[in-house]
Amino acid sequence: MLRVKSIFVLCLLIIVGTLLSGCQSHPTHADATQVNGVQAMTIKISHVVAENTPKHKGALKMKEVIEEQSNRKIRVEIFPNSSLFGDKDEYQNLIANNVQFIMPEMTKLVGSEVGFNIPGMPFLFENDEAAENFWDGPKGKEVLARLQKDKVLGLTMWPNGAKHVTNNNHTISSPSDFAGLKVRTTGGQLLEELYKSLGAGSSSIPFGELYTALQQGTVDGQDNPYSNIESKKFAEVQEYLTIIGMNRVDYALLTNTTFWDGLNDESKRIVQAGIDAGTEIARDSAEKLNDEAYVKIQNESDIEINELTDEEIEAFKEHLQPVYDKWKEIIGEDIIEDAEKR
Ligand code: LMR
Repeated sequence: MLRVKSIFVLCLLIIVGTLLSGCQSHPTHADATQVNGVQAMTIKISHVVAENTPKHKGALKMKEVIEEQSNRKIRVEIFPNSSLFGDKDEYQNLIANNVQFIMPEMTKLVGSEVGFNIPGMPFLFENDEAAENFWDGPKGKEVLARLQKDKVLGLTMWPNGAKHVTNNNHTISSPSDFAGLKVRTTGGQLLEELYKSLGAGSSSIPFGELYTALQQGTVDGQDNPYSNIESKKFAEVQEYLTIIGMNRVDYALLTNTTFWDGLNDESKRIVQAGIDAGTEIARDSAEKLNDEAYVKIQNESDIEINELTDEEIEAFKEHLQPVYDKWKEIIGEDIIEDAEKR
């Protein structure tokens, strides 16, 4: 009897052992999804502008697509209006992976790469499409790729639009009208030299502090697309708006290599889908949001508006040609000539 029992127990152990080894070597469907599945995580996106802007619309679309396609295993948190990081600290916090995506105005990156002066080049791009075509092309991608030395990936360009000038002193219609003005810029030597050549002083102030700086007279004026001028209510603290389009606000969508290299294939596919959808929305909405913002400025503020004539713009182009020529050489003639063709 004892012998029969031993044989029975032995058979039972063999059957159980076979079943267990089978589970480990051939994972069930659920196990396979888990191994190659989406990683659970929270992605933070930080930017410095208000919600009714191309940049925020693009971020919202990224959130929508990434959360939907990951069944909310990947959560996306957006921090607008410098609520998480501002101009002074967003880049270093991206490098430290304290935030996973930022979209700084490109001239704020000139400390890392001289090519990001391009949006500041006077009268270089005719419109959003020309700028987009340049940054999607080989030379634009070459400049974006240069941030890898900071362990930052320059993914693509999001536009805002042409910059127009507000100030508190007087109407501006010719280069000499800038004489003696103190203008806030986004930073970098090109913009400093541009305004110096017009006889104006300049200082770089974080976007989150700009309204107060204008209100207190720390600076007399600033330049931005209509969507930023309207969404930040600059017309409340500025008396004159000059429609000039001297240069642009364009953004670099950035992530860091620590975050990006930590994504498995499925997670990376979903995040990339969000990036592509966000880029499309930011680009498709920029002109419309700026047009709507201009109408609101005209209808809801008493700022005095003057739109430069073609002749007046030609006078600015001629005046700023030496600055353009100097910085074409500094940035790289091949790069600027590629941009000029767009
Ligand atoms: C600025 O003037 O700093 C703005 O261009 C900021 C932005 O991100 O649009």
